[in-house]
Amino acid sequence: MKTQPYKQDTQNLAYNVGVTLDRFIKSKQEDFPFASGELSQLLRDIALAAKIVSREISRAGLSDVTGAFGQINVQGEEQQKLDVIADVRFTRALTKGGEVCAIVSEEEDLVIDLQNSKGKYVVAIDPLDGSSNIDVNVSIGTVFSIYRRVTPSGSPIQEEDVLQKGREQVAAGYVLYGSSTMLVYSTGNGANGFTYERSLGEFFLSHPDLKMPEDGNIFTMNEGLTPMINPNILSYLESCKRQGASARYIGSLVADFHRNLLKGGIYLYPATNQAKNGKIRLIYEANALAFIAEQVGGMASDGKNRILDIQPESLHQRTPFFIGSTNMVKKLEEVLKS
Ligand code: AHG
Ligand code: MN
Ligand code: MN
Repeated sequence: MKTQPYKQDTQNLAYNVGVTLDRFIKSKQEDFPFASGELSQLLRDIALAAKIVSREISRAGLSDVTGAFGQINVQGEEQQKLDVIADVRFTRALTKGGEVCAIVSEEEDLVIDLQNSKGKYVVAIDPLDGSSNIDVNVSIGTVFSIYRRVTPSGSPIQEEDVLQKGREQVAAGYVLYGSSTMLVYSTGNGANGFTYERSLGEFFLSHPDLKMPEDGNIFTMNEGLTPMINPNILSYLESCKRQGASARYIGSLVADFHRNLLKGGIYLYPATNQAKNGKIRLIYEANALAFIAEQVGGMASDGKNRILDIQPESLHQRTPFFIGSTNMVKKLEEVLKS
């Protein structure tokens, strides 16, 4: 039979759409310490929920998904409708696959036992980050951490399965619903970013092997907090300003972190007189972003300790949080020591 080689010179007629998230996950499966395919499936489940949430968010203002839900969550914060919708979407997606035995969510008081004690993984999630930005069409996000359960498979889920140090994460990531929807994740071998192509319904690799600049020129803090915080932090901010750094604060941690990852910068949410541990939640927000930060060459600290080394004592524990370009976070730690 006569054959011909595949013609590669068709670029100007049909551009290359690139690598889909699915294909990428599959190609990386062998990198996982326990390559059974379950973690891959779990990541796909998260990506599916992210697409659905992205769709709901893009309709906010048209459909009845904006505004308050009418309940106060365990964080003492008023839940927005989209907080609850995102919580349902992610929980449902994680229930279907069978890989997960328990979920802990910023929006739920207690651990959700999925009655699937054979599931190897525990997921911690902030389903919708930046709730105050939902109704004003500003970027919001989702943050997730994946752990292996530590107690024997088949036995009831225990506290030690969910209260693990951040350094035990087997994967973590975030979704940013911004000018485009992006998913960034890591399984501990660097981090990669994928942009959602809505018309095709697929995430495509757009930011391979992300790296955070070691230095940066952006500081990100709610400066309304200044009368209530350690004056050393103010000295640090003054030194940033003297060096010509810019202030940038969106008020959605995911979006603020993502910008600083790409451009170089530091995000600060310190302890205040009212909130001794600041605002950011260790298990749902800090750990996942700290994991990503370290994977891209950045750093995350509570001012003294590496975030990923903190032993969580309770589910909804908060922590002062400083994350970003390594030299900036190091300098802040030094200033705090003085
Ligand atoms: P969430 O919407 O999940 O409750 O998180 C909001 C967090 C974080 O995203 C953001 O950086 C910070 O709270 C904003 O807090 P302030 O309003 O105090 O600046
Ligand atoms: Mn949040
Ligand atoms: Mn949230």
